[in-house]
Amino acid sequence: MEITYLGHAGFLVESQEIILIMDPWLSEHGAFDSSWFQFPCNHHLAGLVRNKLSITGKKKYIYISHEHKDHFDIEFLNSIKEKDFTFIIGDFRREVLKELLSKVRAKNLIACRDREVIKIPGGFVQLFLDDTELNRDSAIYLSSGDNNFLNFNDCRKLDEIHYIKSEYRNIDIFTCQFSGATWHPTCYEYSKNEYERISRRKMIGKFESVAKAIESLTPNLYIPSAGPPRFLDPVMQHLNFEEVNIFPLSYKFLNYLKKRVKNDKINFFDIMPGDTLNTQSMKFINLSDTRIDEKNYNEYITDYIKKYKNYFAERKYIIQNNGYRTILERLRNELQSKLDKLSLSNRVSAPLYFILFDKPEKFLKVDFLQGAVTFASGIAEEDNYIIKAPSWEITRILDRIITWDDFSLTFRMKLNRKPDIYQKVIEAFLVLEAEDLNEFCKKLLEIESKQERIIIEAGGCKYSINRFCPHEGGDLTHSWIEDNRYVVCPRHNWKYDLKNDGKCTLNDASIYSISLENE
Ligand code: FES
Repeated sequence: MEITYLGHAGFLVESQEIILIMDPWLSEHGAFDSSWFQFPCNHHLAGLVRNKLSITGKKKYIYISHEHKDHFDIEFLNSIKEKDFTFIIGDFRREVLKELLSKVRAKNLIACRDREVIKIPGGFVQLFLDDTELNRDSAIYLSSGDNNFLNFNDCRKLDEIHYIKSEYRNIDIFTCQFSGATWHPTCYEYSKNEYERISRRKMIGKFESVAKAIESLTPNLYIPSAGPPRFLDPVMQHLNFEEVNIFPLSYKFLNYLKKRVKNDKINFFDIMPGDTLNTQSMKFINLSDTRIDEKNYNEYITDYIKKYKNYFAERKYIIQNNGYRTILERLRNELQSKLDKLSLSNRVSAPLYFILFDKPEKFLKVDFLQGAVTFASGIAEEDNYIIKAPSWEITRILDRIITWDDFSLTFRMKLNRKPDIYQKVIEAFLVLEAEDLNEFCKKLLEIESKQERIIIEAGGCKYSINRFCPHEGGDLTHSWIEDNRYVVCPRHNWKYDLKNDGKCTLNDASIYSISLENE
């Protein structure tokens, strides 16, 4: 088979029998209200994908890993004229992706359960689902008989790697996200030093978890994919040029891997949109002329930004003076309806303040303990959580043009929290839709109620710990030990200190470790 990289998390796989397109994100307006753009630019490949989908005589599939707009590009999907293809998606609890894709009117849609195998001509695909409300994503394993391709995109269920290795043993090509994509610390009001310290910790944590996955899988070839995007909106262009942040470029990661992974059988390649790999020979049979590296990066990004100068200059949202009151009132109703669905609101003692950047005198206070959202004009509490956002972007949420999750990925907000500790319930309150909050609370209680314990060894001692990570339920059987005392979860790298009763080093979560040495 041949695999053509489409940029970001997109791949076009072609064999004698099939064409399978994965996560084609090709629209010129980027994603998340034009805050993210494909890097390197891949818009020129939209025509190639549409042409491939017009070929007759082969079975055609489009796999959409999840509903984030850098994977689920509805504008591009609607531009495909020939609809005789089948969508493959995860059978997630939230049905929005299924509902939106049904409007594209493709020939068929297959929704796969976790680990379900679907036969396709000449082979099969298997999906691995992460469906924990705050994370909803999937990875795909494709076997064409002679070769296989494991595309983890940005799915964080890396504890599944061990199952995949035991099932399939030899992995030919593995791809997986190596960079970050969250508003922490990107949008938090930290000092430069603190911002860089947190960014570096997160970046290395991610590098290390992917390096560990590569070591476990020992693929013939690893290719970095699924990010990072670039930011062309003037308000966030600085992110493209920061020395340290959670959006490192692929060559940085490949340099890390070359030093870190000592296995000559594993190859790495800095793939560019348009490159095509023949999986029989494991040789690239087509290479794009555009190749970005350390040397030409600044020039490339400066040109990319210039191309969108007019687009952002013309994109003005004007709010009339009396419009702010209406926005705040609508936002108050929206937040109140979210709060009404948040059955675990009594876990949050500090209030959340929601402030419009462009009208900061009057704002909203979310009092989780009282279950009320009210107007405010001052902040009295020492412990608090603050979010500031432009009113035009808030209007886009209230008008249902973007979701709360989309909003969190626009990175156009500023956040601050005292004390500086991650709080899952506040995170869920901000990024989930009102109708999903009940389910989030149910799932959180489910994770917390899991009683299974496992024994692990660290620094020559044995410890009993909870098997499942309290964050999103990662299986700590596949965790690793750092510095003879920290248990690191393979999904999002939370660290638990065995010498401090299993408490998390970042927040108040715990895996309740007990030393077995004196038993
Ligand atoms: S599941 Fe997220 S860190 Fe463990």
